[in-house]
Amino acid sequence: MAQRYYIETYGCQMNVADAELMGGVLRREGHERVDDPALADVLIVNTCAIREHAEERVLGRIGQLNRHKLERPDVRLGVAGCVAKELGRELLDRATYVDFVIGPDSYRHLPEVLERVEAGQRVVHDRFNRSENYEDLPPFRLERSSAWVTIMRGCDKFCSYCIVPFTRGREKCRAVEAILEEVRRAVDEGAVEVTLLGQNVNSYRDAGRDFPDLLAAVAGIRGLERLRFTTSHPWDFTPRLVAVIAEHGNVMDHVHLPVQSGSDRILAAMRREYTNEWYRERVSMLREAVPECALSTDVIVGFPGETAADFEATVALMEDIRFNSAYVFLYSPRPHTPAKELADRVPRRTAVERLERLNELQRAIGGAYLRRKVGTRQGVLVHGPAPRGVGLLTGWTEQRETVVFPGDPSLIGKIVSVDVTGLAGITLHGTPRRAERTGSGSVLELPVLAG
Ligand code: 5AD
Ligand code: SF4
Repeated sequence: MAQRYYIETYGCQMNVADAELMGGVLRREGHERVDDPALADVLIVNTCAIREHAEERVLGRIGQLNRHKLERPDVRLGVAGCVAKELGRELLDRATYVDFVIGPDSYRHLPEVLERVEAGQRVVHDRFNRSENYEDLPPFRLERSSAWVTIMRGCDKFCSYCIVPFTRGREKCRAVEAILEEVRRAVDEGAVEVTLLGQNVNSYRDAGRDFPDLLAAVAGIRGLERLRFTTSHPWDFTPRLVAVIAEHGNVMDHVHLPVQSGSDRILAAMRREYTNEWYRERVSMLREAVPECALSTDVIVGFPGETAADFEATVALMEDIRFNSAYVFLYSPRPHTPAKELADRVPRRTAVERLERLNELQRAIGGAYLRRKVGTRQGVLVHGPAPRGVGLLTGWTEQRETVVFPGDPSLIGKIVSVDVTGLAGITLHGTPRRAERTGSGSVLELPVLAG
């Protein structure tokens, strides 16, 4: 029986892509997507386990969604994603109204899971499957102009703080040909931008081909205007990859390269495999070849044993490198991870102070980059109406900065040339040019709004 499904996604882009994968599986069965849980027959919470209290937050949210089951007893409620894998059957005990729990390798089996639920069972389908890459299951994309394409699943790095290898399993790479095919299809269906996704894309391997080979092949696809990838581990960030970024105009000048810490002692305890110096060398190599390349990073503060001197090494690294943006996280002990067993915990107050200090430093550095963009002309991929302001659109530059400008909704999904005129917080403001040429050669006549 055709049903209406609602998927609520938390966490990283991989989960966003997995929601589209689940959407593809469900649509094949004739089910229909709705974006209001009050209208759905099947509710799925697609969860993230990366930081503490993830479990409590999931339990809190499914408790709220249970309201719909109480109002309409034939509604089904499921948990997917990393918390589903982490807790498995335990979720059924902790939330008696959950009908099914489905792990990241089991989405193909959603139809039969739903059938078993209809037959009155509560179902847990959460085993790892070494050969599951969903090759034959096209995702149901929620956005036409910007597409996520998963190139690998899982992670073999086992950084000492990270739960991902335990919730998403070992690294599995999709075949180059299957990826190229998927990107071609996305472009045919209107994608202007594609982001290749994996927990650590740089360790991609398939039949003798590595990530730079794949990136170069994808960049060669006709009609693909913007190509991105995330996430990169510094260890596998090679000169060949930098050469591919430099060589292909449609590979965007933006790299997300998580550093995590500036202290060699802490990096070793995190099992990151590189040193402060190694990281700085990667950045120099990148900036030498691609001088305008934007660089973003992740940092963890308050890792067990992090002294004031370790922290100052992180501050110095951030001052020296001057990232365009940085996501700073408080360390949180996670199940299964070796770091959880480490003594010498950093007091929460100290960790919070460190977080605030890095955020403040980064605000100043990031702000300086953005101010330099005022007065420049940028190609903006239009994403949609701006959340605030009538007649305003929002989109992003090649380096992924957000720009708001006046324009007609018919421009959504197109690349528009915008003169940047100001900065408010971290949002650039601008005025569109009257006529613009897109990368594919067509001319866009812009109906600039009056006023
Ligand atoms: N505590 C805090 N931050 C974490 N991350 C991963 N695991 C943890 C943890 N246990 C951060 C890392 C990673 C990002 C996605 O999440 O910085 O790069
Ligand atoms: Fe986690 Fe490290 Fe793998 Fe990233 S590389 S997903 S931080 S284990």
